[in-house]
Amino acid sequence: MLKTNPFLKEIAHYLKAHTGLEEKDVYPLIDQPPNPDMGDYTVPCFPLKERLHKSPNLIAQELAQAIVGATGRSPLQLVTRVKAEGAYLNFFVQHDELARWILERVHKEGNGYGHATIGKGKTVVIDYSSPNIAKHLAVHHLRSAVIGNALYRLYKALGYHCVGINHLGDWGTQFGQLIVAYRKWGNEEALKEDPVDALHGLYVKFHQEAKNDASLEDQARLAFKELEGGDTEARHLWGHFKEVSLKEFNKVYHALGIRFDYYTGESFYNEMLNDTVERLKKAGLATLSEEALVVNLEQYGMPPCLLKKKDEASLYATRDVCAAEYRAREFGFSRMLYVVGSEQRLHFKQFFKVLELMGYPWVKDCVHVDFGLIKFKEGKMSTRAGRVILLEEVLKEAVERARGIIQEKNPDLSRAEEIARQVGIGAVIFADLSSRRTRDVLFDWKEVLNFDGETGPYLQYTHARLCSVIRKYGGTVDGKVDFSLLKEKDEYLLVRKLESFPRSIVSAAETCEPVVLCNYLIELASLFNRYYNHHRIISKNEELTRARVLLADCTRQVLRNGLHLLGMETPEEM
Ligand code: ARG
Repeated sequence: MLKTNPFLKEIAHYLKAHTGLEEKDVYPLIDQPPNPDMGDYTVPCFPLKERLHKSPNLIAQELAQAIVGATGRSPLQLVTRVKAEGAYLNFFVQHDELARWILERVHKEGNGYGHATIGKGKTVVIDYSSPNIAKHLAVHHLRSAVIGNALYRLYKALGYHCVGINHLGDWGTQFGQLIVAYRKWGNEEALKEDPVDALHGLYVKFHQEAKNDASLEDQARLAFKELEGGDTEARHLWGHFKEVSLKEFNKVYHALGIRFDYYTGESFYNEMLNDTVERLKKAGLATLSEEALVVNLEQYGMPPCLLKKKDEASLYATRDVCAAEYRAREFGFSRMLYVVGSEQRLHFKQFFKVLELMGYPWVKDCVHVDFGLIKFKEGKMSTRAGRVILLEEVLKEAVERARGIIQEKNPDLSRAEEIARQVGIGAVIFADLSSRRTRDVLFDWKEVLNFDGETGPYLQYTHARLCSVIRKYGGTVDGKVDFSLLKEKDEYLLVRKLESFPRSIVSAAETCEPVVLCNYLIELASLFNRYYNHHRIISKNEELTRARVLLADCTRQVLRNGLHLLGMETPEEM
């Protein structure tokens, strides 16, 4: 909770007087009780047991008595009542003051509400999406891109300097294969029409032909050597493959609203690899095994980490070690996140171990932010057929379906095309983010686009509904209202929910779990919708209307801020 909260300040001040604890040590103890009937804030007394040498229940009782004092009334200003309940010390505060403190802040801070400065002066490097070039972006690349993008935005909101890196898979023997295939069977024309498709075709053909012609593999090894050595023709071809791939990737990134600070792929480290290998040799870590250069990790219960093949070609892990060293030098990160699927868990364990053995203290700040698979339930995108599902197709289908639903719900909507895009893409992003990362995502179109379910469109719809309330009100929303008019329990619950938005951002970022924010937003939207169904926001009572409009507008603001942090757009009508 934020220290500047005057309620917490008062509670901390009082606890300090009666326990001798420093205020800063009291803040982390203060929480919201699970049930608002129990109070507005609660302090569990278990952590005070050691210090005060009493049972937590007794501590709670004595503190309550001490704070209320002989008069039986709270001497405090904002706290109206203190009550011991078991081992908990519960505080009741003035609700109109609570509403004032929270709503005024949301209103004043606007798009910045929820942002903080805890990351000031610190850098987070995020490695995300990172697909292999000369292949289509498949649907599993969605997860890395979407999770990485959300983490980028979350950390940024907390004041961290973020470095977003697309570590493209643009180096390695397979590009030798592709060069050979292109020289033999490729043609400009095919590459123009659907370049990535053509490249993928060449790659497949190479492997078919290589079954009968062993010399192809040797040629490919040679071609990769040429590439590593800087041969002009090889570099030219490879550059072309990369360029056409990036063009296609960028279309998808653009559709998803995802950007990167760097597209430094594996090839970027080519010139630095030798130094890395030298360091590994000097440290006595690199050993020869069947002519390949490896770091033996048997002692740690892992297979060896491969650094160089017997033909001297570098490998994925070599480039990752080198890239980590480079990033540590270049960015001096306080955290480095690798948003990569769970199937690469062993790779990350191995190469983090290598970094540790090299003596780098910053390896403790490297995190493999892993995630599960994405699966489709039924229909033409069923994964059961074993077909690779292209990300572009998924996004197209989402927008088409959203368009259908919107047409049915609101046929007169202007800008329907734009809104269908925002809703379709938003639905896909939210479906990806709204379960714990490591769980597989089962994609069911009906559910993903259900406007009444726990979905992206539901949140966007609630946001649009709020915008429409404000439009209907017509006037400017005033931050100074009579807060004592917000007497309904649903209003209180909404206010408290708005209060905890900043905390949910911190928690989502720290655990690298955007689902924390997804859940928060679903709860917020549900609270609002319940309130909206039972109470009139705009009525003849002007003062009450002003207060309720402020509450509605703050809810709109927080929904908007939250959806943007997830990487979703927020149409104002739907
Ligand atoms: N290119 C790899 C793949 O598509 C992912 C790279 C992830 N990032 C990294 N630094 N290893 O599987």
